Amino acid sequence: MAEKSFKYVILGGGVSAGYAAREFAKQGVKPGELAIISKEAVAPYERPALSKAYLFPEGTARLPGFHVCVGSGGERLLPEWYKEKGIELILSTEIVRADIASKTLLSATGLIFKYQILVIATGSTVLRLTDFGVEGADAKNIFYLREIDDADKLVEAIKAKKNGKAVVVGGGYIGLELSAALKINNIDVSMVYPEPWCMPRLFTADIAAFYEGYYANKGIKIIKGTVAVGFTTNADGEVNEVKLKDGRTLEADIVVVGVGGRPLISLFKGQVAENKGGIETDDFFKTSADDVYAVGDVATFPMKLYREMRRVEHVDHARKSAEQAVKTIMATEGGKTVTGYDYLPYFYSRAFDLSWQFYGDNVGDTVLFGDNDLASATHKFGTYWIKDGKVVGVFLESGTPEENKAIAKVARVQPSVESLDVLKNEGLSFASKI
Ligand code: FDA
Ligand code: NAD
Repeated sequence: MAEKSFKYVILGGGVSAGYAAREFAKQGVKPGELAIISKEAVAPYERPALSKAYLFPEGTARLPGFHVCVGSGGERLLPEWYKEKGIELILSTEIVRADIASKTLLSATGLIFKYQILVIATGSTVLRLTDFGVEGADAKNIFYLREIDDADKLVEAIKAKKNGKAVVVGGGYIGLELSAALKINNIDVSMVYPEPWCMPRLFTADIAAFYEGYYANKGIKIIKGTVAVGFTTNADGEVNEVKLKDGRTLEADIVVVGVGGRPLISLFKGQVAENKGGIETDDFFKTSADDVYAVGDVATFPMKLYREMRRVEHVDHARKSAEQAVKTIMATEGGKTVTGYDYLPYFYSRAFDLSWQFYGDNVGDTVLFGDNDLASATHKFGTYWIKDGKVVGVFLESGTPEENKAIAKVARVQPSVESLDVLKNEGLSFASKI
């Protein structure tokens, strides 16, 4: 059996892998020392593009335009970059077995990879309706979105079903971003989700009401409080109807499902400590196993700010955790130390001409501020979260770069407030003073 050996192996070729490679290069990794093994066929890219400009009919994003690290304002790492640096990109290669004791990875085609130090960056996979036994969920034209191949299939379907009907299942990130992208492609969109409002993991009812109203004005039909329980197909096996639990049926040429993800950690079951569904790490992203690090979506790490172990499924953390792990690896070899990870949660989304950012923690009381009137020309509004008399989280729609910087600072500094009324009255100017 073919065997290859590397000093460092990054398992996974997504966002974390790309940012880790850049950091390895910055720290002087030598040609031949580092390999990235990915089941995807392309070099690491900025995954957020897939649910946004990749699907737009105009101003469409295509590779090589959004390879990492362009998303953070950095240089694009094209496949040639890896060649120049002597970093081996082992693509279209799925690892099916990992043995930490012998420091060995085995691919689906029987290749063996040996490493001295492993960085696990396998990210997440989607939850599928077939996992829940939803009848007919394996019909053609039911799509999920995680990797570029998924996005390509969806683009083909959008072209084939011109001016058709889509049902979007799920009211989270994928649900909201994909509904907008489909609508921009002139598809008639209905969204279905079980909760009383969209993005319930982050949004308050007030925040959600704005986005639901905005989407409704764009002609998107929102159906809440129910789920898809079955799909019927035409003679070609293509989905043509979605059956809802409340008895209604919706016509559909395309179905997009975004009902959450799960971190890909099964290769390491029983070999590393787990926590909260992810691989447990310290604040340097070291796992319980020697010479094994875990970064990005799979890592459950100490969030110092909240004195709690947490897992984060967002791109900012994928980038920063990868850099932290590589800095640690290289400093350790040089007999140096680095400071531990001290992360401030940062999430964002964009759809239509809307764009929001959130920093901090969404716990405690909330105060809505600004102009969330759908009829207004600007949509600058937001929400503060207040716990134990301190502002711990801030959400802002349509903020300028300076305003977004200001809300990030508030979430980091956690200023005390005398009363919720102060925040209500001062609104965004409270953040700008901190
Ligand atoms: P990521 O998923 O990026 O990479 C994992 C890699 O590992 C993939 O290449 C995969 O193929 C590979 N892999 C897995 N198992 C393997 C195996 N056994 N063998 C070989 N390779 C294997 N976040 C945000 O903050 N803002 C945003 O706008 C968006 N938008 C967005 C859109 C879409 C469509 C998705 C799916 C996700 C987002 N996100 C986001 C989330 C963000 O993209 C996500 O948190 C990061 O990509 C996580 O980076 P990782 O490197 O951990 O995993
Ligand atoms: P999510 O957790 O954001 O949303 C899942 C949603 O699924 C829930 O809000 C709920 O409305 C819905 N749901 C659950 N069960 C359902 C059912 N049976 N029928 C209908 N709806 C159901 O997950 P997602 O939107 O699928 O996103 C997947 C991953 O991609 C996450 O890790 C997310 O962070 C990431 N992502 C992030 C962004 C961003 O940060 N802007 C954008 C896209 C994707």
